[in-house]
Amino acid sequence: MLTLGIETSCDETSVAVIRDADEILSNVILSQSEHTRFGGVVPEVASRAHVRTIVPVYREAIEEARVAIDDVDLIAGTMGPGLVGPLLVGLSFAKGLAFAAGKPLVAVHHMEGHLAANILQHPQLDTHHLALVVSGGHTMLVEVIAFGDYRILGRTKDDAAGEAFDKVAKLLGLGYPGGAEIDRLARDGNPKFTRFPRAMRRQDNFQFSYSGLKTAVALQVKKMSPEELNEHRADLAASFQEAAVEVLADKTVLAAADCGVRHVTLAGGVAANSRLREVLADRLRRAGRRLYYPTIELCTDNAAMIAAAGYLRFQKEGESGLAVNATPYLELAR
Ligand code: KG4
Ligand code: ZN
Repeated sequence: MLTLGIETSCDETSVAVIRDADEILSNVILSQSEHTRFGGVVPEVASRAHVRTIVPVYREAIEEARVAIDDVDLIAGTMGPGLVGPLLVGLSFAKGLAFAAGKPLVAVHHMEGHLAANILQHPQLDTHHLALVVSGGHTMLVEVIAFGDYRILGRTKDDAAGEAFDKVAKLLGLGYPGGAEIDRLARDGNPKFTRFPRAMRRQDNFQFSYSGLKTAVALQVKKMSPEELNEHRADLAASFQEAAVEVLADKTVLAAADCGVRHVTLAGGVAANSRLREVLADRLRRAGRRLYYPTIELCTDNAAMIAAAGYLRFQKEGESGLAVNATPYLELAR
């Protein structure tokens, strides 16, 4: 069965074609560069860019997959959460396509898409597991009882992990989004240069907090001269990353024991972080568990994961119908 997925919830315009939930035929991702000079995503600019690029990206995905729209069996589009303008562009396009081509439509929860990226690459994960979902907008520990059946163990009380990476990147004078740049820079830095706070680490719950860490980095940067900052940029990146990663790893190891699962996954843009992958894989291995994560391209926003989630939803409950609407705030547990 062929599914065409469409993702436009933030600043990536992406269209993909997959076979069942295990083979990617194409996954075209266009990251909007228009926001760089603003240091963050500007919703109206993002909406207009999606309008300009959705058709060319769709054509490229169809061409690369070497299929015709008539060969496609299902259309999947992100309905939320995300920015309402961008979501409307992609979901309206998905609806129009489904109507014109006479195909069923499935509306997809963006975070369920991130979870499905793991199933797409590791089919054995279509079973009980724990997921640490860490993106630009979310930080949460989710017990996946089965696909579509979730228990949220805890989430962030303030900033998301990715948001903290982006804000710290800005403080260090790096580009936007800065998570990947911090990751790169930290490889040459000393993680013990500054000991930043590990918020809520010792607490026996699954909540996170990142605003204190961000403020601690801001205060440290303020204390340094431009020359010192220049000299120690990599050290600050490494010290921040170590604090951010340690809390995520501690709580995930604890949650895996609490749920009694062998398999743990990383999902969302921050799942691309090399230090998080390394520390968490090692800690879980020592506890007799195993960590899985998607390839870098499938960690950050892409339509292949939306197609995979759409396909799995369709198997469970059929089509959504054309009356679905873009929904900026949408809970995962359904
Ligand atoms: O999942 P995603 O593409 O979009 C949302 O749904 O939010 O996640 C984007 C986030 C950004 O905050 C970005 O800085 C972060 O993922 N990110 C990383 C890395 N690559 C992307 N954070 C840390 N290390 C990375 N290598
Ligand atoms: Zn995302």
